[in-house]
Amino acid sequence: MRAALPALVVLAIAAAVAPSRAQNANPLPPGEGRDLVAVACSQCHYLGTIAKIRDGAAGWRVYVDNMVLRGAQLSGPEIETVVNYLALNLGPGMNLSPPKPVTLPDGAGKDLVETRCSVCHDLERVAVVKRDRRAWPLIVADMAAWGAPTTPEEAKTIADYLTAHFSD
Ligand code: HEC
Ligand code: HEC
Repeated sequence: MRAALPALVVLAIAAAVAPSRAQNANPLPPGEGRDLVAVACSQCHYLGTIAKIRDGAAGWRVYVDNMVLRGAQLSGPEIETVVNYLALNLGPGMNLSPPKPVTLPDGAGKDLVETRCSVCHDLERVAVVKRDRRAWPLIVADMAAWGAPTTPEEAKTIADYLTAHFSD
């Protein structure tokens, strides 16, 4: 039994390391200039910082100028290539990953969650992470304040449903 332990530890470490390796994969969409961005923009932070933002050419230019001030190594023409790549491939609405379909468990409140909670973000945001039982009423109240169309009764139904299905 003792001899088996180190092997288990190695497996556990391998499993713990695997997700961070996947994170290190280049998350940038293909396009002219991608390699330049991948090298010049990964010196100080993970490329995912960039890949999750969408902006127009003017906005991207501000980011890139800012990064050059911080020390990103780019010549003048390379700055143009990078800004063009970012504006063309990470412009508003471009290359957004398709939301994974989320199937909600049956129960009172399911329809409300499907219709009211998916208009600003996908349901993956709502129904994947389990949260503390006390958190749901607060989150739903937050979302209502943000603009989720719900009456107080509907908010309660939604919070009860999420607490029943997405809490420990
Ligand atoms: C010399 C270091 C360095 C390099 C190289 C660098 N950055 Fe950054 N970048 C930073 C720092 C520091 C921050 C702020 C801390 C953070 O968000 O991680 C940052 C943050 C960002 C952010 C997030 C800003 C926000 O408000 O959320 C974006 C987008 C970004 N960088 C884009 C780029 C791009 C594009 C490149 C390549 C042209 C690049 N970075 C190269 C240092 C660098
Ligand atoms: C009017 C737009 C809008 C609607 C409708 C909406 N949300 Fe949100 N939701 C947001 C925004 C914006 C954020 C990100 C800001 C934040 O985290 O506070 C967010 C974030 C979240 C988060 C993550 C918050 C965290 O603390 O991790 C959850 C969970 C969530 N919403 C659940 C819901 C539920 C449940 C509903 C339906 C009652 C809903 N949302 C409807 C705008 C909306």
